[in-house]
Amino acid sequence: MISVSNLSKKYDSVQALKGISFEIKEGEFYGLLGPNGAGKTTTISIMSTIVEPSEGIVKIAGFDLKKNPIDCKKTIGVVPQEIALYNELSAYDNLLFWGSLYNVPKSELKKRIDETLQLFGLHDRKNDKVKTYSGGMKRRINIASALLHNPKILFMDEPTVGIDPQSRNLIFEVIEKLHKEGMTIVYTTHYMEEAERFCDRIGIIDNGEIIVQGTLDELKSSSKMKETIAISFVELSNEQFDKIELEWKDLKRNENSINFYSSNVKSDLSKIILKCSEIGLDIHNIEIQKVNLETIFLSLTGKQLRD
Ligand SMILES: Nc1ncnc2c1ncn2[C@@H]1O[C@H](COP(=O)(O)OP(=O)(O)OP(=O)(O)O)[C@@H](O)[C@H]1O
Ligand SMILES: [Mg+2]
Repeated sequence: MISVSNLSKKYDSVQALKGISFEIKEGEFYGLLGPNGAGKTTTISIMSTIVEPSEGIVKIAGFDLKKNPIDCKKTIGVVPQEIALYNELSAYDNLLFWGSLYNVPKSELKKRIDETLQLFGLHDRKNDKVKTYSGGMKRRINIASALLHNPKILFMDEPTVGIDPQSRNLIFEVIEKLHKEGMTIVYTTHYMEEAERFCDRIGIIDNGEIIVQGTLDELKSSSKMKETIAISFVELSNEQFDKIELEWKDLKRNENSINFYSSNVKSDLSKIILKCSEIGLDIHNIEIQKVNLETIFLSLTGKQLRD
């Protein structure tokens, strides 16, 4: 459905994208996950024909973006990172405006606007000016405006940043519904929980490069990361630690705590606890740190996803 090959973008002195490639199948939910300045918005903006690439080829629904930009545009809906709405107009009039840009026939457009307002729980506020809306409500209208022409593909650039939980949950419900109905979705975020929850496949982008991509399970196994069993003790003498270290090589001590690294927590946990009780150690707390996108990201880039 989407094919991006060797895409690069240079803004004056900044090399924002350094030749990225990826393929997205029809109906797939693809997440671009990366920290600030990684190149997520640049990628989405190029695919939405808003920004011109320096190099590379983008194909959308079989159309070459450079040769057939209009056909590409008809296929996609774009939810930009910055909310683009007219504050002095009502939600309804904003949607009329955005819908008319996509040449949706007037009668059909009115029907679509009503449906989308219902979908986003804003039908009863449709005649209020957008300037009276909360941030989360504006965000919902921002997404609604991208859906009026029934696009096959939806690009969403960090659609849940800085909004209330109620709006966020509603947006989650809507995108899950769209995904179930078969829409192809490209979603950028730096919230790993969102990427883990929604995405069929994830591309981790940093510094203008996609450093790894695949399903969550593929990312987990390719990272070869181990899970951590972090145990703190009431007391831990050097002698006791030496005894543990004889049995367990892959560990790290920090005063009265030990991190045990394991590729099979299920079987290792009971072994470790048994050993500790043999030595007479009194356990204060046990924590298991699973491998997740945050830890994978950290191991690949040495950076936290969030600043
Ligand atoms: N119009 C522009 N002119 C110059 N540099 C730009 C422009 N837009 C983006 N950049 C630079 O390109 C790089 C990638 O920016 P981009 O906005 O694509 O990142 P992002 O992943 O979307 O970040 P964020 O999470 O902050 O939205 C950054 O170094 C940024 O400063
Ligand atoms: Mg961005």
